[in-house]
Amino acid sequence: MVKNIHREIHKKLPGADKRRIQYTRKAFRMLPPVHRPRILDAGCGEGKPTMELAKLCDGDITALDIDRESLDILQKKAEAAGMADRIHTVQGSLNNMPFDDGSFDIIWAEATIHIIGFEKGLRLWRRFLRPGGFLVIHEVVWLQADPPREALQHWRSQFPGIRTADQYAELIVSAGYDILGYFTLPEDLWWDDYFLPLETRLQQIREKYASDREALKVIDDEQVEIDLYKKYGAWFGSWFFVAQRCHP
Ligand SMILES: C[S@@+](CC[C@H](N)C(=O)[O-])C[C@H]1O[C@@H](n2cnc3c(N)ncnc32)[C@H](O)[C@@H]1O
Repeated sequence: MVKNIHREIHKKLPGADKRRIQYTRKAFRMLPPVHRPRILDAGCGEGKPTMELAKLCDGDITALDIDRESLDILQKKAEAAGMADRIHTVQGSLNNMPFDDGSFDIIWAEATIHIIGFEKGLRLWRRFLRPGGFLVIHEVVWLQADPPREALQHWRSQFPGIRTADQYAELIVSAGYDILGYFTLPEDLWWDDYFLPLETRLQQIREKYASDREALKVIDDEQVEIDLYKKYGAWFGSWFFVAQRCHP
């Protein structure tokens, strides 16, 4: 039930992700050219970045997610775009990915590495890259080192590993990668691209489930994050990190 409400809240948010995808392009262009790259989109969801990556190169993309419904949506998108021969969906866990060592030239992870822990993901996924392969991560960060207590408490409960970009960079290097580049997304992007469409959706869903206590609890929890962003948006945002697996 809770999962269904969550899906209803987040599915196809009109107006969402319009700007974000240009930063997927920007990060991809920071990589040196790779001929027909083998890419893993780790935690692909419904495939926003996956579809963009398929447009940006002539490689093969393995799109892994734990959620069957998201993968089916991506599969349909890939077929409609005539890209089903280059996009392969795999249902699996980020914790235990079913691939051989060195299977990929690039691992792409937008908003997913925190699910298994930033540091753990860096170490666990490294072997799936060929030596010299690339890891691109897009993750929530503290934009300032001294977040207010309310923001700190919320994010520590949702995402205990949240750090500043400098702290993430240290973890990336100590896990055996060189950093090729990084950048932050504009402060207003998450408002325009995510929280505003989400807030509009929540208002509609709240009316629909006005007498359903369980649904209202899920809606309230989502609203907490929006309100927090309104108050403390200057403290948290997201960064892309473009890294390369050191040899060997
Ligand atoms: C915030 S979404 C990001 C989706 C996509 N990367 C994007 O940027 O649009 C996180 C995704 O991770 C998936 N996920 C969560 N836990 C997972 C796990 N243990 N293994 C694989 N996928 C997981 C979810 O199903 C969801 O599609």
